Amino acid sequence: MNWWENEFLQVKQNKLYLENFSAEQLARKYGTPLYVYSLKKVATNYRYLRQAFEPAPTGIEVKIAYALKANSHPGLLKMLIKEGAAIDAVSPAEVEKAIQAGFPEDRIMFTGTSISQEDFERVLAHPGVTINIDAYEQIELLQAARKRCQIKNPVRVSVRWNPGLGRGFSSKTVTAGERSSDGTPIKFGIEDSRVIETFEKLRSLKFLTVGLHQHLGSGWSEEDFPVAVKAVDRMIKKARQLKMAGFNLEFLDFGGGFGPRYSPDQRLFPLKEYAAYIVDRVENSRLGLNSIIVEPGKYLVAEAGVLLVKVEYLKRSYGNLFACVNAGTYNTVPRPAIYEEAYHEIVNASQVNGGKKHRITVAGHLCETGDVFGVERLLPCPERGQILAVLMAGAYCRSMASNFNLRDIPQEILLGSL
Ligand code: LLP
Repeated sequence: MNWWENEFLQVKQNKLYLENFSAEQLARKYGTPLYVYSLKKVATNYRYLRQAFEPAPTGIEVKIAYALKANSHPGLLKMLIKEGAAIDAVSPAEVEKAIQAGFPEDRIMFTGTSISQEDFERVLAHPGVTINIDAYEQIELLQAARKRCQIKNPVRVSVRWNPGLGRGFSSKTVTAGERSSDGTPIKFGIEDSRVIETFEKLRSLKFLTVGLHQHLGSGWSEEDFPVAVKAVDRMIKKARQLKMAGFNLEFLDFGGGFGPRYSPDQRLFPLKEYAAYIVDRVENSRLGLNSIIVEPGKYLVAEAGVLLVKVEYLKRSYGNLFACVNAGTYNTVPRPAIYEEAYHEIVNASQVNGGKKHRITVAGHLCETGDVFGVERLLPCPERGQILAVLMAGAYCRSMASNFNLRDIPQEILLGSL
Protein backbone atom coordinates (compact mmCIF):
# COMPACT_ATOMS: atom_id res chain seq x y z
CA MET A 1 0.00 0.00 0.00
CA ASN A 2 1.24 3.48 -0.81
CA TRP A 3 1.67 5.85 2.14
CA TRP A 4 -0.98 8.20 0.77
CA GLU A 5 -3.80 5.69 0.22
CA ASN A 6 -6.97 6.30 2.21
CA GLU A 7 -10.76 6.27 1.81
CA PHE A 8 -10.45 8.98 -0.89
CA LEU A 9 -7.40 7.73 -2.82
CA GLN A 10 -7.12 4.10 -3.82
CA VAL A 11 -5.29 2.01 -6.38
CA LYS A 12 -7.23 -0.54 -8.42
CA GLN A 13 -5.64 -2.45 -11.30
CA ASN A 14 -2.69 -0.09 -11.03
CA LYS A 15 -4.89 2.95 -11.73
CA LEU A 16 -5.71 5.75 -9.33
CA TYR A 17 -9.28 5.93 -8.08
CA LEU A 18 -10.82 8.90 -6.34
CA GLU A 19 -13.53 7.37 -4.18
CA ASN A 20 -15.21 5.13 -6.77
CA PHE A 21 -14.23 7.11 -9.83
CA SER A 22 -11.21 6.40 -11.96
CA ALA A 23 -9.02 9.49 -12.20
CA GLU A 24 -8.65 8.93 -15.94
CA GLN A 25 -12.42 8.83 -16.44
CA LEU A 26 -12.94 12.01 -14.42
CA ALA A 27 -10.20 13.68 -16.43
CA ARG A 28 -11.86 12.62 -19.70
CA LYS A 29 -15.31 13.68 -18.58
CA TYR A 30 -14.49 17.06 -17.03
CA GLY A 31 -11.22 17.91 -18.78
CA THR A 32 -7.85 18.79 -17.26
CA PRO A 33 -6.50 20.45 -15.27
CA LEU A 34 -9.18 19.61 -12.72
CA TYR A 35 -9.47 19.86 -8.95
CA VAL A 36 -11.28 16.91 -7.38
CA TYR A 37 -12.41 17.11 -3.74
CA SER A 38 -13.91 14.50 -1.44
CA LEU A 39 -16.70 15.58 0.91
CA LYS A 40 -16.39 12.27 2.70
CA LYS A 41 -12.70 12.79 3.50
CA VAL A 42 -13.30 16.27 4.91
CA ALA A 43 -16.13 14.90 7.07
CA THR A 44 -13.88 12.08 8.33
CA ASN A 45 -11.12 14.54 9.25
CA TYR A 46 -13.63 16.82 10.95
CA ARG A 47 -15.04 13.98 13.04
CA TYR A 48 -11.60 12.69 13.96
CA LEU A 49 -10.60 16.12 15.18
CA ARG A 50 -13.84 16.50 17.14
CA GLN A 51 -13.22 13.13 18.81
CA ALA A 52 -9.66 14.10 19.70
CA PHE A 53 -11.14 16.71 22.05
CA GLU A 54 -13.44 14.22 23.77
CA PRO A 55 -14.32 14.07 26.55
CA ALA A 56 -14.49 17.87 26.57
CA PRO A 57 -14.12 19.57 29.94
CA THR A 58 -17.47 19.69 31.78
CA GLY A 59 -19.62 22.58 30.65
CA ILE A 60 -17.21 23.65 27.93
CA GLU A 61 -17.99 23.41 24.23
CA VAL A 62 -15.16 22.70 21.79
CA LYS A 63 -15.71 24.71 18.63
CA ILE A 64 -13.98 23.79 15.41
CA ALA A 65 -13.70 27.00 13.42
CA TYR A 66 -12.71 26.10 9.89
CA ALA A 67 -10.15 28.50 8.38
CA LEU A 68 -12.12 29.29 5.25
CA LYS A 69 -9.07 30.74 3.51
CA ALA A 70 -7.85 27.19 2.92
CA ASN A 71 -10.70 26.32 0.56
CA SER A 72 -14.02 28.13 0.25
CA HIS A 73 -15.89 25.72 -2.02
CA PRO A 74 -19.59 26.24 -1.15
CA GLY A 75 -20.28 22.49 -1.06
CA LEU A 76 -17.58 21.98 1.56
CA LEU A 77 -18.92 24.88 3.60
CA LYS A 78 -22.48 23.50 3.50
CA MET A 79 -21.30 20.13 4.75
CA LEU A 80 -19.31 21.78 7.57
CA ILE A 81 -22.39 23.73 8.68
CA LYS A 82 -24.25 20.44 9.04
CA GLU A 83 -21.35 19.04 11.08
CA GLY A 84 -21.63 21.99 13.46
CA ALA A 85 -18.44 23.83 12.51
CA ALA A 86 -17.73 27.51 13.06
CA ILE A 87 -15.66 29.79 10.79
CA ASP A 88 -12.38 31.66 11.02
CA ALA A 89 -12.56 34.50 8.46
CA VAL A 90 -9.74 36.92 7.71
CA SER A 91 -11.39 39.40 5.34
CA PRO A 92 -14.84 40.97 5.03
CA ALA A 93 -15.37 38.94 1.85
CA GLU A 94 -14.68 35.72 3.77
CA VAL A 95 -17.23 36.77 6.41
CA GLU A 96 -19.78 37.39 3.65
CA LYS A 97 -18.96 34.09 1.96
CA ALA A 98 -19.58 32.21 5.22
CA ILE A 99 -22.90 33.99 5.75
CA GLN A 100 -23.93 33.29 2.16
CA ALA A 101 -23.18 29.60 2.70
CA GLY A 102 -25.48 29.65 5.74
CA PHE A 103 -23.21 29.93 8.78
CA PRO A 104 -24.99 31.81 11.60
CA GLU A 105 -23.23 35.06 12.49
CA ASP A 106 -22.50 33.88 16.00
CA ARG A 107 -20.37 31.06 14.60
CA ILE A 108 -18.06 33.40 12.71
CA MET A 109 -14.97 35.20 13.97
CA PHE A 110 -13.19 37.84 11.93
CA THR A 111 -9.42 38.04 12.47
CA GLY A 112 -7.89 40.75 10.34
CA THR A 113 -4.45 42.28 9.99
CA SER A 114 -3.78 45.74 8.45
CA ILE A 115 -7.49 46.42 8.63
CA SER A 116 -9.23 49.59 7.43
CA GLN A 117 -12.23 51.32 8.95
CA GLU A 118 -14.20 50.29 5.85
CA ASP A 119 -13.29 46.64 6.48
CA PHE A 120 -14.67 46.93 10.01
CA GLU A 121 -17.84 48.61 8.72
CA ARG A 122 -18.43 45.74 6.31
CA VAL A 123 -18.03 43.21 9.09
CA LEU A 124 -20.17 45.19 11.54
CA ALA A 125 -23.04 44.90 9.07
CA HIS A 126 -23.26 41.40 10.58
CA PRO A 127 -23.55 42.23 14.27
CA GLY A 128 -23.33 38.67 15.56
CA VAL A 129 -19.79 38.21 14.24
CA THR A 130 -16.99 38.34 16.82
CA ILE A 131 -14.18 40.72 15.92
CA ASN A 132 -10.69 39.61 16.82
CA ILE A 133 -8.34 42.58 16.83
CA ASP A 134 -4.66 42.10 16.12
CA ALA A 135 -3.33 45.57 17.03
CA TYR A 136 -4.01 48.06 19.80
CA GLU A 137 -4.24 50.64 17.03
CA GLN A 138 -7.22 48.83 15.49
CA ILE A 139 -9.39 49.88 18.43
CA GLU A 140 -9.65 53.44 17.18
CA LEU A 141 -10.73 52.25 13.72
CA LEU A 142 -13.22 49.82 15.19
CA GLN A 143 -14.63 52.56 17.39
CA ALA A 144 -15.02 54.87 14.37
CA ALA A 145 -16.66 52.08 12.36
CA ARG A 146 -19.09 51.34 15.21
CA LYS A 147 -20.07 55.01 15.36
CA ARG A 148 -20.52 55.27 11.59
CA CYS A 149 -22.69 52.13 11.54
CA GLN A 150 -24.65 53.48 14.54
CA ILE A 151 -24.39 50.23 16.42
CA LYS A 152 -26.00 50.43 19.84
CA ASN A 153 -25.67 46.82 20.96
CA PRO A 154 -22.37 45.70 22.46
CA VAL A 155 -19.83 44.53 19.88
CA ARG A 156 -18.15 41.23 20.71
CA VAL A 157 -14.37 41.62 20.57
CA SER A 158 -11.54 39.23 21.23
CA VAL A 159 -7.81 39.89 21.16
CA ARG A 160 -5.15 38.11 19.14
CA TRP A 161 -1.95 38.20 21.11
CA ASN A 162 1.49 37.12 20.04
CA PRO A 163 2.73 34.75 22.75
CA GLY A 164 6.36 35.17 21.67
CA LEU A 165 6.58 31.67 20.17
CA GLY A 166 5.77 30.53 16.67
CA ARG A 167 6.14 27.48 14.42
CA GLY A 168 5.48 26.71 10.78
CA PHE A 169 6.70 24.39 8.03
CA SER A 170 8.22 27.41 6.25
CA SER A 171 9.61 30.71 7.52
CA LYS A 172 6.74 32.32 5.58
CA THR A 173 4.11 30.53 7.63
CA VAL A 174 5.40 31.31 11.14
CA THR A 175 2.91 33.80 12.59
CA ALA A 176 4.07 34.40 16.16
CA GLY A 177 7.30 35.25 17.94
CA GLU A 178 9.42 38.34 17.35
CA ARG A 179 10.88 37.28 14.02
CA SER A 180 10.42 34.37 11.68
CA SER A 181 13.24 31.87 11.13
CA ASP A 182 14.48 33.91 8.13
CA GLY A 183 14.52 37.14 10.15
CA THR A 184 11.23 38.62 8.91
CA PRO A 185 9.57 40.66 11.68
CA ILE A 186 6.25 39.05 12.62
CA LYS A 187 3.34 41.39 11.94
CA PHE A 188 0.60 39.44 13.73
CA GLY A 189 -0.89 39.85 17.18
CA ILE A 190 -0.38 42.10 20.17
CA GLU A 191 2.82 41.73 22.14
CA ASP A 192 2.66 40.30 25.61
CA SER A 193 3.33 43.55 27.45
CA ARG A 194 0.35 45.32 25.84
CA VAL A 195 -2.37 42.71 26.20
CA ILE A 196 -3.87 43.95 29.50
CA GLU A 197 -3.77 47.55 28.32
CA THR A 198 -5.63 46.50 25.15
CA PHE A 199 -8.37 44.77 27.13
CA GLU A 200 -8.68 47.79 29.43
CA LYS A 201 -9.02 50.17 26.49
CA LEU A 202 -11.72 47.95 24.97
CA ARG A 203 -13.56 47.84 28.29
CA SER A 204 -13.40 51.62 28.69
CA LEU A 205 -15.07 51.93 25.29
CA LYS A 206 -17.77 49.42 26.25
CA PHE A 207 -16.75 46.69 23.86
CA LEU A 208 -17.65 43.23 25.08
CA THR A 209 -14.30 41.48 25.63
CA VAL A 210 -15.08 37.82 25.02
CA GLY A 211 -11.89 35.97 24.21
CA LEU A 212 -8.17 35.58 23.77
CA HIS A 213 -6.71 34.19 20.56
CA GLN A 214 -3.36 33.02 19.26
CA HIS A 215 -2.18 31.38 16.06
CA LEU A 216 1.42 30.21 15.94
CA GLY A 217 1.76 29.31 12.28
CA SER A 218 0.92 26.69 9.72
CA GLY A 219 2.01 23.16 8.86
CA TRP A 220 3.22 21.51 12.06
CA SER A 221 4.95 18.15 12.27
CA GLU A 222 5.86 16.04 15.28
CA GLU A 223 8.88 18.20 16.15
CA ASP A 224 6.63 21.23 16.62
CA PHE A 225 4.71 19.61 19.49
CA PRO A 226 6.87 20.94 22.37
CA VAL A 227 6.48 24.54 21.20
CA ALA A 228 2.77 24.09 20.55
CA VAL A 229 2.12 22.91 24.11
CA LYS A 230 4.37 25.58 25.58
CA ALA A 231 2.21 28.15 23.81
CA VAL A 232 -0.90 26.53 25.32
CA ASP A 233 0.62 27.08 28.77
CA ARG A 234 1.39 30.70 27.95
CA MET A 235 -2.18 31.25 26.82
CA ILE A 236 -3.62 29.84 30.06
CA LYS A 237 -1.25 31.97 32.10
CA LYS A 238 -2.28 35.07 30.18
CA ALA A 239 -5.96 34.26 30.61
CA ARG A 240 -5.37 33.95 34.35
CA GLN A 241 -3.75 37.38 34.46
CA LEU A 242 -6.74 38.74 32.56
CA LYS A 243 -9.12 37.15 35.03
CA MET A 244 -7.25 38.81 37.87
CA ALA A 245 -7.66 42.12 36.05
CA GLY A 246 -11.43 41.50 35.96
CA PHE A 247 -11.86 40.03 32.49
CA ASN A 248 -13.95 36.88 32.48
CA LEU A 249 -13.41 35.39 29.06
CA GLU A 250 -15.92 33.24 27.22
CA PHE A 251 -13.31 31.43 25.16
CA LEU A 252 -9.67 30.74 24.43
CA ASP A 253 -8.90 30.25 20.75
CA PHE A 254 -5.72 28.28 20.06
CA GLY A 255 -5.70 28.87 16.28
CA GLY A 256 -4.80 26.27 13.68
CA GLY A 257 -1.49 24.98 12.38
CA PHE A 258 -1.61 21.23 13.08
CA GLY A 259 -0.63 19.76 9.76
CA PRO A 260 -1.58 16.59 7.97
CA ARG A 261 1.20 14.52 6.37
CA TYR A 262 2.40 15.97 3.07
CA SER A 263 5.36 13.65 2.45
CA PRO A 264 6.35 10.11 3.44
CA ASP A 265 9.20 11.31 5.64
CA GLN A 266 7.16 13.92 7.52
CA ARG A 267 6.45 12.80 11.06
CA LEU A 268 2.83 13.44 11.85
CA PHE A 269 1.90 16.04 14.45
CA PRO A 270 0.44 14.21 17.48
CA LEU A 271 -3.00 15.74 17.28
CA LYS A 272 -4.62 13.57 19.96
CA GLU A 273 -1.93 14.44 22.50
CA TYR A 274 -2.23 18.13 21.64
CA ALA A 275 -6.02 18.10 22.02
CA ALA A 276 -5.79 16.17 25.30
CA TYR A 277 -3.21 18.67 26.55
CA ILE A 278 -5.48 21.62 25.78
CA VAL A 279 -8.49 19.92 27.40
CA ASP A 280 -6.47 19.05 30.50
CA ARG A 281 -4.96 22.51 30.95
CA VAL A 282 -8.28 24.27 30.42
CA GLU A 283 -10.03 21.91 32.82
CA ASN A 284 -7.46 22.56 35.55
CA SER A 285 -7.35 26.29 34.98
CA ARG A 286 -10.84 27.03 36.36
CA LEU A 287 -11.13 30.07 34.16
CA GLY A 288 -14.90 29.71 33.80
CA LEU A 289 -14.77 29.49 30.02
CA ASN A 290 -17.76 28.47 27.84
CA SER A 291 -15.68 27.27 24.96
CA ILE A 292 -12.33 26.25 23.53
CA ILE A 293 -11.80 27.08 19.87
CA VAL A 294 -9.37 25.65 17.33
CA GLU A 295 -9.08 26.88 13.74
CA PRO A 296 -7.96 24.13 11.39
CA GLY A 297 -7.51 24.80 7.70
CA LYS A 298 -5.04 22.32 6.22
CA TYR A 299 -5.90 19.57 8.64
CA LEU A 300 -9.48 19.34 7.39
CA VAL A 301 -9.12 19.83 3.65
CA ALA A 302 -5.55 19.38 2.35
CA GLU A 303 -5.68 15.61 1.82
CA ALA A 304 -9.27 15.76 0.54
CA GLY A 305 -8.22 17.29 -2.76
CA VAL A 306 -6.11 16.42 -5.80
CA LEU A 307 -5.28 18.18 -9.02
CA LEU A 308 -5.42 16.11 -12.19
CA VAL A 309 -3.17 17.19 -15.07
CA LYS A 310 -2.36 15.66 -18.46
CA VAL A 311 1.12 14.91 -19.75
CA GLU A 312 1.55 16.67 -23.09
CA TYR A 313 5.01 15.31 -23.86
CA LEU A 314 8.32 14.23 -22.35
CA LYS A 315 11.31 16.45 -22.89
CA ARG A 316 14.99 15.75 -22.41
CA SER A 317 17.49 18.54 -21.95
CA TYR A 318 21.09 18.39 -20.63
CA GLY A 319 20.33 15.02 -19.08
CA ASN A 320 17.16 16.26 -17.37
CA LEU A 321 13.88 14.52 -18.05
CA PHE A 322 10.71 16.60 -17.91
CA ALA A 323 7.07 15.57 -17.97
CA CYS A 324 5.50 18.68 -19.47
CA VAL A 325 1.92 19.00 -18.27
CA ASN A 326 -1.07 21.12 -19.27
CA ALA A 327 -1.17 23.23 -16.10
CA GLY A 328 0.92 25.84 -14.31
CA THR A 329 1.68 25.77 -10.58
CA TYR A 330 0.65 29.40 -10.01
CA ASN A 331 -2.76 28.72 -11.54
CA THR A 332 -3.41 25.44 -9.73
CA VAL A 333 -1.06 24.28 -6.94
CA PRO A 334 1.06 27.36 -6.24
CA ARG A 335 2.58 26.15 -2.98
CA PRO A 336 5.79 24.57 -4.40
CA ALA A 337 6.47 27.77 -6.33
CA ILE A 338 5.96 29.95 -3.24
CA TYR A 339 7.48 27.88 -0.44
CA GLU A 340 10.79 26.12 -0.92
CA GLU A 341 9.75 23.51 1.65
CA ALA A 342 6.34 22.68 0.14
CA TYR A 343 6.10 19.13 -1.16
CA HIS A 344 3.19 17.63 -3.09
CA GLU A 345 3.31 13.94 -3.93
CA ILE A 346 2.78 13.24 -7.62
CA VAL A 347 1.20 9.99 -8.75
CA ASN A 348 0.93 8.65 -12.27
CA ALA A 349 -2.81 8.00 -12.16
CA SER A 350 -2.73 5.99 -15.38
CA GLN A 351 -0.03 3.64 -14.11
CA VAL A 352 0.59 4.01 -10.39
CA ASN A 353 3.31 1.42 -9.84
CA GLY A 354 5.61 -0.76 -11.87
CA GLY A 355 7.43 -0.19 -15.13
CA LYS A 356 10.81 1.40 -15.20
CA LYS A 357 11.09 4.37 -12.85
CA HIS A 358 12.83 7.56 -13.90
CA ARG A 359 13.83 10.77 -12.20
CA ILE A 360 11.25 13.11 -13.64
CA THR A 361 10.73 16.82 -13.15
CA VAL A 362 7.06 17.63 -13.59
CA ALA A 363 7.04 20.97 -15.38
CA GLY A 364 4.16 23.38 -15.85
CA HIS A 365 3.31 25.59 -18.80
CA LEU A 366 4.20 28.98 -17.29
CA CYS A 367 7.11 31.19 -18.20
CA GLU A 368 8.89 30.81 -14.89
CA THR A 369 11.70 28.43 -13.93
CA GLY A 370 10.09 27.75 -10.55
CA ASP A 371 6.95 26.50 -12.28
CA VAL A 372 7.58 22.85 -11.43
CA PHE A 373 5.17 20.66 -9.46
CA GLY A 374 7.95 18.33 -8.38
CA VAL A 375 11.69 18.06 -8.99
CA GLU A 376 13.32 14.78 -10.07
CA ARG A 377 10.62 12.52 -8.68
CA LEU A 378 11.05 8.80 -9.06
CA LEU A 379 8.00 7.88 -11.15
CA PRO A 380 6.98 5.24 -13.68
CA CYS A 381 7.86 7.04 -16.88
CA PRO A 382 4.62 8.69 -18.04
CA GLU A 383 3.49 8.55 -21.62
CA ARG A 384 1.92 11.30 -23.63
CA GLY A 385 -1.75 11.70 -22.67
CA GLN A 386 -1.42 10.01 -19.30
CA ILE A 387 -2.90 11.63 -16.22
CA LEU A 388 -0.85 12.71 -13.22
CA ALA A 389 -2.41 13.49 -9.85
CA VAL A 390 -0.88 16.14 -7.60
CA LEU A 391 -1.92 15.19 -4.08
CA MET A 392 -2.74 17.32 -1.01
CA ALA A 393 -4.31 19.94 -3.25
CA GLY A 394 -7.38 20.58 -1.08
CA ALA A 395 -5.85 23.41 1.01
CA TYR A 396 -4.33 26.70 -0.13
CA CYS A 397 -4.27 25.68 -3.78
CA ARG A 398 -7.44 26.92 -5.51
CA SER A 399 -7.63 29.68 -2.88
CA MET A 400 -4.14 30.96 -3.75
CA ALA A 401 -4.30 30.32 -7.51
CA SER A 402 -3.89 33.23 -9.94
CA ASN A 403 -4.40 33.84 -13.63
CA PHE A 404 -0.68 34.35 -14.22
CA ASN A 405 0.17 34.19 -17.96
CA LEU A 406 -3.59 34.65 -18.48
CA ARG A 407 -4.13 30.97 -17.86
CA ASP A 408 -7.46 29.87 -16.44
CA ILE A 409 -7.91 28.55 -12.92
CA PRO A 410 -9.27 24.99 -13.27
CA GLN A 411 -12.79 23.92 -12.45
CA GLU A 412 -13.48 22.06 -9.21
CA ILE A 413 -15.65 19.02 -8.67
CA LEU A 414 -16.81 17.75 -5.33
CA LEU A 415 -17.28 13.98 -5.05
CA GLY A 416 -20.18 13.07 -2.83
CA SER A 417 -22.31 15.83 -4.29
CA LEU A 418 -22.23 14.88 -8.00
N1 LLP B 1 -6.21 30.76 12.02
C1 LLP B 1 -5.61 31.85 11.53
C2 LLP B 1 -5.79 33.15 12.19
C3 LLP B 1 -4.79 31.73 10.39
O1 LLP B 1 -4.18 32.81 9.91
C4 LLP B 1 -4.64 30.47 9.77
C5 LLP B 1 -3.80 30.32 8.60
C6 LLP B 1 -5.32 29.36 10.30
C7 LLP B 1 -6.09 29.55 11.45
C8 LLP B 1 -5.27 27.99 9.70
O2 LLP B 1 -3.99 27.43 9.66
P1 LLP B 1 -3.82 25.91 9.16
O3 LLP B 1 -4.57 25.04 10.12
O4 LLP B 1 -4.38 25.81 7.80
O5 LLP B 1 -2.36 25.65 9.20
N2 LLP B 1 -0.63 29.52 2.53
C9 LLP B 1 0.05 28.68 3.50
C10 LLP B 1 -0.70 28.62 4.79
C11 LLP B 1 -0.93 29.97 5.39
C12 LLP B 1 -1.89 29.91 6.52
C13 LLP B 1 -2.27 31.25 6.97
N3 LLP B 1 -3.10 31.26 8.11
C14 LLP B 1 0.27 27.30 2.89
O6 LLP B 1 -0.11 27.06 1.76
O7 LLP B 1 0.87 26.45 3.53
